[in-house]
Amino acid sequence: MPAIVWTNDLNIGVPPIDTDHKLLVSLINQLDDAISGGEGRETVGSVINALLDYTEYHFAREESLMEAAGYPDLESHRRHHEQLTARVGAIRDRFVADKDSLADAEVLEFMRTWLTSHILGEDKKYMPYMVGKLEDLERVDRQFTESLVMSDDGVRFE
Ligand SMILES: [Fe+2]
Ligand SMILES: [Fe+2]
Repeated sequence: MPAIVWTNDLNIGVPPIDTDHKLLVSLINQLDDAISGGEGRETVGSVINALLDYTEYHFAREESLMEAAGYPDLESHRRHHEQLTARVGAIRDRFVADKDSLADAEVLEFMRTWLTSHILGEDKKYMPYMVGKLEDLERVDRQFTESLVMSDDGVRFE
């Protein structure tokens, strides 16, 4: 049984956002596999890194779409993102400092809970502001992804 099973209530109805959320679910399930399969600390560490990178990328992408949709609570949503990024970053830093310092079950539970509760609690709030503007948002999203350059250590913003 994976850590998170994708269910329809997690759908926002905006394709790039749902794609990102599914990818984050899949990374959390990979973390679960790495932990429960007894993979080495290096594997666990690389999944945590990938999760942090993709979380940062997803938040920036989502914020650009919220801004384009004229979502009035963008600032408060941005603060939720900053807090989550800081917490995932702290987990990564602890791991880098001491690979055995993390309680795997605790990390997994945190990742699982923040993603589902953030999608259901916060992301769902902008849904009504986006559903009627999918074509415009698709254009904004294309500009956003084109403004990124890939580098060896992950995604960078120009
Ligand atoms: Fe969000
Ligand atoms: Fe999101």
